[in-house]
Amino acid sequence: MMNVAVMGYGTIGSGVVEILEQNKDIIARQTGDTVNVKYILDLREFPGTPIEKKIVHDFSVIEKDPEVSMVIETMGGLNPAYPFVKASLQAGKHVATSNKALVAAYGTELLKIAEENQVNFLFEASVGGGIPIIRPLYTSLAGEQIEEITGILNGTTNYILTKMDKAGETFEEALSKAQELGYAERNPEADVEGHDTCRKIAILTALASGHEVNYEHIYTEGITNITDVDFRYADALGTSVKLFGSSRISDQGVHAFVAPVMIGKDHPLYSVNDVYNGILVKGNMLGTSMFYGSGAGKLPTASAVVADIIEALKNPGHHVKMGWDGNRLNISAMDSVSFRYFVRIKGIAAKRLAEAEAAFGKVEVTELDHMDEFAVMTEVMTEEEYHLRAKKLSGIRQRIRAEI
Ligand code: HSE
Repeated sequence: MMNVAVMGYGTIGSGVVEILEQNKDIIARQTGDTVNVKYILDLREFPGTPIEKKIVHDFSVIEKDPEVSMVIETMGGLNPAYPFVKASLQAGKHVATSNKALVAAYGTELLKIAEENQVNFLFEASVGGGIPIIRPLYTSLAGEQIEEITGILNGTTNYILTKMDKAGETFEEALSKAQELGYAERNPEADVEGHDTCRKIAILTALASGHEVNYEHIYTEGITNITDVDFRYADALGTSVKLFGSSRISDQGVHAFVAPVMIGKDHPLYSVNDVYNGILVKGNMLGTSMFYGSGAGKLPTASAVVADIIEALKNPGHHVKMGWDGNRLNISAMDSVSFRYFVRIKGIAAKRLAEAEAAFGKVEVTELDHMDEFAVMTEVMTEEEYHLRAKKLSGIRQRIRAEI
């Protein structure tokens, strides 16, 4: 029997306890062992519930108990998650976490400590909710040179954009529904400003390249500037707008960004809607494969944590080599990344198209009825070139990168 401690009995932590109970026979069959939740660390008491007697408020009880061989961190945030996880690994306990902020900020150090102590620091649930993506990268795709990872990595923003696209909802309406459904982080800024996606693409890029990634070096733009008017144009163009986290790795350098991107119906990620996530991985031998599933929510995310518990159960006293080293990856400036651009311009196309062409060169024009503006789609150019050209044109109301 493996004794585990769950730190944080919130949405994910309670989901983990629920799955460990509901699927205990399956877990026992897979591993030949059983899992016992010995402690649950939380500030609250939960009187009259089945977990009442497992609740502890003092982390040192877990840290000092040699019977606890694994700690599940589902508290979120960096403090006290970071010192508690570090101390758990140093005490020779495996750790599984759903905390992308922790992995993105301290992953290099925690992986090293895990290796030194012959335990595992596992974080399948930190990216893509319930979608298996971390383990495939270090197992099934271990022989691939990963050239690109592009994902819809945030369920909340995908839900919001889908509602704006398909139901004509405003950003605020869709956000409050996402919060009611428990998708959004406590602070919605982390979702809507792209910070959550940034940490997730940083983790995937580090895994794919084998080197540490400083998430602060990843250009990050959220969805707060995307409006219902943009979606009216997208509808006319047969396109949609999705928040991408993407990294492209080649001998020439590494590009990584988080930004809303306009895509057409033929893009594999076009049909990834609502709270679902989709992740494209391009390997040099495999070509492109796609991972799709529930990117947020209690049981899907808890399911990924339970998969990590099983991984640890299968590797007692053994550190599974995965992750990245401390040599920091150099991320190229966003200025050198190329896109097409969807640009909304004040005025009537009949009067101002020549100006738009003088600035951007060849463009495709879209006009909606009863609007004092028109939109153009440029050819492919670098961000730097776009900025230089856009300076030549007055009245630009919107600019969305496009991969069409
Ligand atoms: N707030 C996150 C999301 C939770 O919406 O994707 C899962 O990481």
